[in-house]
Amino acid sequence: MSLIETIKIKAKKDIKKIVLPEGEESRTIAAAKIIREEGLAVPVLLGDPAKIDAEGIEIINPETSAKAEEYAKELYELRKSKGVTEEDAKNLVKDPMYYGIMMVKLGDADGLVSGAVHTTGDMLRPALQIIKTKPGMKVVSSSFLMDCPNKSLGENGLLVYADCVVMPNPTAEELAHIAVSAADTARALCDIEEPRVALLSFSTKGSAKHELVTKVQQATEIAHQIAPSLILDGELQLDAALVPEIAASKAKGSPVEGRANVLIFPDLQAGNIGYKITQRIAGADCFAVLQGLAKPCNDLSRGCSVDDIVNTVAMTAVQAQ
Ligand code: ACO
Repeated sequence: MSLIETIKIKAKKDIKKIVLPEGEESRTIAAAKIIREEGLAVPVLLGDPAKIDAEGIEIINPETSAKAEEYAKELYELRKSKGVTEEDAKNLVKDPMYYGIMMVKLGDADGLVSGAVHTTGDMLRPALQIIKTKPGMKVVSSSFLMDCPNKSLGENGLLVYADCVVMPNPTAEELAHIAVSAADTARALCDIEEPRVALLSFSTKGSAKHELVTKVQQATEIAHQIAPSLILDGELQLDAALVPEIAASKAKGSPVEGRANVLIFPDLQAGNIGYKITQRIAGADCFAVLQGLAKPCNDLSRGCSVDDIVNTVAMTAVQAQ
């Protein structure tokens, strides 16, 4: 069974309410119908009901909603220290993205999926400002769940890559938090009971000396402190992370033993390029989720298909469980 089929089965076991702020968009409407029919989640579409043909699906118009006042009050309280006025808050909640984020914040929805129309930044900023990080977690980042044709790698072909979307240039401490979050994502979404985390570099165990390598070494130390029982090692080159024979010669005694199933990239350029190489050249199926947020919100690519939206809603629902 593929990764996404397993995730869909999980989503159906404990049905969550997922808000779709881009409710007037045709792929989103088509996806909401499938989500409802398949029982993956209870979808809520935001927008003008006159522009949405989706019988049986809850539609909320942020412009006229009775809840808008309560959301504006709460948003003002949350952001007044950042210069948001009461008037600003009233206007902001008319924007479906902010309205949707407030629904999740106040528990009127369990999660949010957006990005068929908005850019990653448009979707991320309100989530970062309002939903904020999970207790104990310093940063919001992302994981890509990579379902690779080569089943000898990772966990029967499954690998988790982080961070490929959010943090352009994480510090050592931020990188450590990304590593711990990615291990949580591997457990929650991929059923990987024993994440084996490799913090990647162009150096293995001091083979090269450079400030970029030092950052990964420091991140490894900090991650050990945050999660002492997690199987984790760094800095490792990709082959020392994935190939037991190479690990045995280059990284003797590495707890990962060349069997990593979670790969942590040193910055966003490496992560973003890395997942696209795996997708395009190795032919992996890949699914992105945000991690570290107090409540699940996920981003889509603007080129997404209806299936991509359905899949992301299923993953969001499982994160909400
Ligand atoms: N984790 C937690 N909080 C954060 C993070 C983070 N990673 N980043 C920013 N914040 C918080 C800030 O502390 C701030 O909070 P505050 O307003 O309460 O003080 C708030 O979010 C907004 O911060 P800004 O500095 O205004 O936001 P910024 O301009 O840094 O934008 C963003 C954040 C959007 C995530 C930015 O880092 C970004 O654009 N990242 C790259 C996104 C991207 O283009 N990805 C690649 C394409 S996607 C793909 O290929 C699939």
